[in-house]
Amino acid sequence: MFYFISFLTVIVTIVFVLETRKPKNYPPGPQWLPFIGSALHIAQLRSKCGMLCKAIDELHKIYLNPTGLFGLKFGADMLVVAYSAAAIKELGTNEDLDGRPNSVFYRTRTFGKKIGILTVDGDLWQEHRRFIMRHLKNFGFAGRGMLNIIENEAEMIVKELKEGMKKAGTKETIVDMKEFFHVFVLNNIWKMMTGIRYDRNSKEVNEILMMFTKLLQDVDMVGTLFSHFPFLRFVAPGLSGYEQFVENHTRFYAFLRKEVQRHRENFVPSEEPKDLLDSYLQEIDNHERSDDSTFIEEQLLAVCLDLFLAGSETTNKSLGFAFLHMTLKPEIQDKAHKELTSVLGNTRFPSWEDKSNLPYCDAIVHEGLRFFMGHTFGVPHRALEDTRLCGYNIPKNTMVVGCFRGMLMDPITYPDPDNFNPDRYIKNNSCIIPEDFYPFGVGRHRW
Ligand code: HEM
Ligand SMILES: *[C@@H]1O[C@H](CO)[C@@H](O)[C@H](O)[C@H]1NC(C)=O
Ligand SMILES: *[C@@H]1O[C@H](CO)[C@@H](O)[C@H](O)[C@H]1NC(C)=O
Ligand SMILES: *[C@@H]1O[C@H](CO)[C@@H](O)[C@H](O)[C@H]1NC(C)=O
Repeated sequence: MFYFISFLTVIVTIVFVLETRKPKNYPPGPQWLPFIGSALHIAQLRSKCGMLCKAIDELHKIYLNPTGLFGLKFGADMLVVAYSAAAIKELGTNEDLDGRPNSVFYRTRTFGKKIGILTVDGDLWQEHRRFIMRHLKNFGFAGRGMLNIIENEAEMIVKELKEGMKKAGTKETIVDMKEFFHVFVLNNIWKMMTGIRYDRNSKEVNEILMMFTKLLQDVDMVGTLFSHFPFLRFVAPGLSGYEQFVENHTRFYAFLRKEVQRHRENFVPSEEPKDLLDSYLQEIDNHERSDDSTFIEEQLLAVCLDLFLAGSETTNKSLGFAFLHMTLKPEIQDKAHKELTSVLGNTRFPSWEDKSNLPYCDAIVHEGLRFFMGHTFGVPHRALEDTRLCGYNIPKNTMVVGCFRGMLMDPITYPDPDNFNPDRYIKNNSCIIPEDFYPFGVGRHRW
């Protein structure tokens, strides 16, 4: 018995020591506990600050590190956070860090496979990224085509507001801005993908949008409980968030399949494709006979999901921040209004070509982007090889994610960063954006 207990103690001690030992020259961060790593520590900071990205601010105060790189571990996953502008830039330009995570969480979204466009790497990423870019360019979406769609949606927004006033019978109306933009924003992407736009009041689309918003609020891109502790999905499918996650995605795919079906029925093979869905269907048909083609219907559905997610929340929230602060500070609205009337008169809508004559409006857009990305993370990368970042060692398969607060809320580049202040960009009557302004990321993953 004595021997057995000693033996067990030795084994347990070895496991504890191994589990809490960090790789050589790993970026600074909290001590690791056996099996859970830094999960507890981060969870505590998160509940103290309310947001995961603000918990990283706390790390920045504790682990004084001029490179702005922090090393964590959640369950079995090593996670490095790039916090400074320099670290985010180096992350985007180091090809060894071009991978995307392999975790169960990401695959769960896409039929258990690593497909789609947002969270894939290697050949699949390159092939489909090139395909999507080429086709969007062919449809004219790289230039005027896209601008026409956006300008049209903007006019629809104004029309909606005017109808509200007409209904109220006065020059004033109360608008719930909370859900005001999201269908208009989605239409910009949906139009290029499927050729259709939705009515702002479409029940089906609103429901799907709200479902994803709620889902993403609960899980955010850095992961759910089941993603860091994958076995939990078998032990506690409900509690770990797994079951809901799968069910809700199934609902989205059902919605999408209807659209794919409609395209299949209307598509004439002898004609040019009219939108991205047509292009994909045509490519799928071309590859029908080859077994190893990546142009299959599941990939098409996954690409649609990814573009839907990547394009709707980001733009919607950036607009949300801009309008929130314009509401809180009517003087910003007044300045914007003066600029618009002096440049355009009251005769027409602004267009992209007016941008350089509307520096203050341009500055509002940049503040909206800064506030949105300054409160969130980028899309996680993964080390494809053992590599280095800001002088630290990053072991193969480590997840590396940008926490954009460090760059976009940096008090040196953006004095008084929590103040929404378009004037910070206005110099000599133009909108001058600081060098360290990369809300869309840096490098080959940037769109
Ligand atoms: C306010 C607007 C937006 C912001 C701030 C934003 C920001 C970002 C960021 C930070 C990344 C990660 C880059 C990286 O991994 O290094 C990203 C990736 C991506 N974004 Fe956006 N985005 C916006 C709008 C859009 C829109 C409208 C679309 C189009 C549908 C889109 C599609 C994508 C895609 C497909 C990726 C993955 C690219 C890849 O891995 O190759 N985004 N975005
Ligand atoms: C996800 O699906 C479940 C079951 O269908 C539903 O009860 C839940 O409300 C959905 N979640 C969201 C955020 O819509
Ligand atoms: C759009 O942004 C607002 C915040 O401005 C948010 O309340 C709403 O849920 C968002 N909608 C979607 C679909 O993300
Ligand atoms: C301000 O702009 C004008 C013309 O746009 C230019 O001639 C002048 O050099 C600029 N001044 C500064 C200080 O940049």
